[in-house]
Amino acid sequence: MTEIRAYDPARDDLTEIVALVHRAFGEYRGKLMPESGALSETVESLGKRLEKNRLFLAEQDGKLCGAVFAARKRDAIYLDRLAVDSTARGRGIARSLINAVEEHARESGTSRVTLGVRLALTGNIAYFQRQGFVETGRQAHAGFDAPTSMDMEKRL
Ligand SMILES: CC(C)(COP(=O)(O)OP(=O)(O)OC[C@H]1O[C@@H](n2cnc3c(N)ncnc32)[C@H](O)[C@@H]1OP(=O)(O)O)[C@@H](O)C(=O)NCCC(=O)NCCS
Repeated sequence: MTEIRAYDPARDDLTEIVALVHRAFGEYRGKLMPESGALSETVESLGKRLEKNRLFLAEQDGKLCGAVFAARKRDAIYLDRLAVDSTARGRGIARSLINAVEEHARESGTSRVTLGVRLALTGNIAYFQRQGFVETGRQAHAGFDAPTSMDMEKRL
């Protein structure tokens, strides 16, 4: 059984969440330019994120298998670090985590969820399009002349 819930500092260990993010994004190691920032997250950096961000977790039979951050960015909620363990993929867990972010956006009084996805990750772009996200722009990471990531948004 899959449960989606908000991060609970009394119950959840950030060490496990960092390990999950590293496992999920590990497949991109050495393949993205610049390297995915998710691979540099630490307990400290996630702790810092939690000062202003919400974190939703997915558990399957009591075992952590997915996570996503949601941050207020101007008039929208920005979805970040969506991660599902490779053994739990293809079962709609990311879809449920995205739903949790959308619900949080509605509760926060905004009707927009935004995200950034690497242009190199065409499968992820197609996935987000299937979830109702559309392109709103492109950005180049610092030091790059050509765009490296796509801005996307979903209007709720
Ligand atoms: C991208 C990622 C979060 C997707 O996680 P996921 O839980 O497998 O995603 P979902 O299950 O919601 O959707 C995956 C596919 O499974 C399908 N699916 C959903 N429920 C299903 C079910 N019950 N049975 C079979 N397939 C199902 C979905 O339709 C989707 O298919 P599609 O690709 O044809 O749209 C995961 O692959 C991941 O962590 N990747 C590495 C990190 C990453 O790239 N994060 C995003 C950064 S932008």
